[in-house]
Amino acid sequence: MNKRDLMVNPTLACGNLLNLKKDLDILEKEGISILHIDVMDGHYVPNLCFNLNTLSEIRRNYAFLLDVHLMVTNPEDYVIPLKEIGIEYLSFHLDTVRFPIRLLKKIECLGMKGGIVLNPSQPVSLLEEVLPYLSFVLVMGVEPGFSGQTFLPQTIDKIKELACIRKERALTFMIEVDGGVNDLNTESCIKEGADILVTGAFGVFRRKNGLEQDCHDYLELVERIKR
Ligand code: DX5
Ligand code: ZN
Repeated sequence: MNKRDLMVNPTLACGNLLNLKKDLDILEKEGISILHIDVMDGHYVPNLCFNLNTLSEIRRNYAFLLDVHLMVTNPEDYVIPLKEIGIEYLSFHLDTVRFPIRLLKKIECLGMKGGIVLNPSQPVSLLEEVLPYLSFVLVMGVEPGFSGQTFLPQTIDKIKELACIRKERALTFMIEVDGGVNDLNTESCIKEGADILVTGAFGVFRRKNGLEQDCHDYLELVERIKR
């Protein structure tokens, strides 16, 4: 396998919600460069997660790249506010927009990286016409809305299929995987072509030996696989 830039992307929804600052300080110290932030509206998924104020505070205090995963029915409404906050990566679910190419162009035009999220029930073929406009595809390993769910095995085939299309069509989109990523499936995700690994309840936030050590151990696992 060629050496690639791989991003380990902790999902803050799995952090210590009563003391986010403590977790953010540790992640920063461990060398984490990107943070995955779930935004949910209680409609697209039956849960709520971080709001725009929390994102602004994180932006004002930390230099992480911010990767916002919108699980909302009206993603268009968030594009300008998120640009004003200063986030870098912005993804929305394919089934929440009527004109995905228009929205992707708007995101890119504003200087952010735009991505589309595929749920486990959605095949890669749905993206055929959209792939040239994407900075990244986010492949869900679980149904969206909750952390701590079991990784669905077909996710690996989707990563593989996307990597194959990327090569065949000489495209440059990155592949992000989110949900259920653990020590056992990390290797297959990387080998099949994932560039961004969202890590939550089974990775850096597994609450085994403390965030510092758990983060260190997961980063080490990824490094070993890359070699
Ligand atoms: C699920 C979210 C994920 C979630 C992942 O809807 O998009 O980002 O926090 O958590 P784990 O890794 O525990 O499945
Ligand atoms: Zn997510």
